Amino acid sequence: LKVSLIGAPSDAGASLLGSAMGPDALRVAQLGPALAALGLDVLDTGNLSGPVNPRGPRDPQAAGLRNLPEAIFWTQAVHDAVWAQFQAGRMPIMLGGDHHLAAGSISAVARHARAQGKKLRVLWLDAHSDINTPDTSPSGNIHGIPVANLLGFGPHELISMSGETPAIKPESMRYVGIRSVDEHEKRMIRQMGIQAFDMRAIDELGMREAMHRVLDGLDDDTHLHVSFDADFLDPEIAPGTGTRVRGGATYREAQLCMEMIADTGRMTSLDVVEVNPALDIRNQTAELVVDLVESLFGKSTLINR
Ligand code: ARG
Ligand code: MN
Ligand code: MN
Ligand code: MN
Repeated sequence: LKVSLIGAPSDAGASLLGSAMGPDALRVAQLGPALAALGLDVLDTGNLSGPVNPRGPRDPQAAGLRNLPEAIFWTQAVHDAVWAQFQAGRMPIMLGGDHHLAAGSISAVARHARAQGKKLRVLWLDAHSDINTPDTSPSGNIHGIPVANLLGFGPHELISMSGETPAIKPESMRYVGIRSVDEHEKRMIRQMGIQAFDMRAIDELGMREAMHRVLDGLDDDTHLHVSFDADFLDPEIAPGTGTRVRGGATYREAQLCMEMIADTGRMTSLDVVEVNPALDIRNQTAELVVDLVESLFGKSTLINR
């Protein structure tokens, strides 16, 4: 398996600075060597370059979204870089940066799946549903809107990158681990009929049954994309992220989640976002994320396949 790391050092979508240092925190935590040790052919393409986070006030011209021009630049740059790695026959791993960048990566994934005539399944591992629209966003932070963008809601530039709007269908989306969902987001998830396994569902079903349902129906004709927000994890074990919400996935729950995805053998692209070393303790969050990504690529205690 050939994988390519794509650093996307932008925190334009977040209110707290620092996730722009996420790609390097993951490199310091030995992400590339860890994947190479599993037998993968790893190419680190380095970091994309683009505008810094201006941290301006909410711009009324941009429907109240903060840093919209910068976010548009980065999202397009990520789309182009992810598409280029698919073209080169390699699996893209986008290292954020904040989660707004997933509108770019997943637009490229949708374009790729469409070009191959394949279906798409997107697993959104997160504390948040990131499905606000410019009108409903309580914060103006663009990392709260990428799912809405992918479903066709938001500024033109953020919804049209894949070449078709909407880029993905609500039936393709699965949420795992959400526990902070704004009122308008709740209605949106309900109206669109998106399958969501919130922390209550994980408490009641267990991670095993929740993941069994999330992964149900995948076949040879399905591209599986995983969008992994570090705040999916409980903040007690992953403090290095900007929008912490208590009651997240435990270490064991997160490991099982990753291992069950690996067992399908169908993951074809990945985002790792919202690792913020400026808020972390001795890079422990990046180290934990690397540990979990190893499991996502099949690291296991015993030989089981
Ligand atoms: N729902 C909140 C908002 O719209 C928080 C979003 C947090 N998103 C994230 N990717 N960490 O601002
Ligand atoms: Mn998120
Ligand atoms: Mn989140
Ligand atoms: Mn490990």
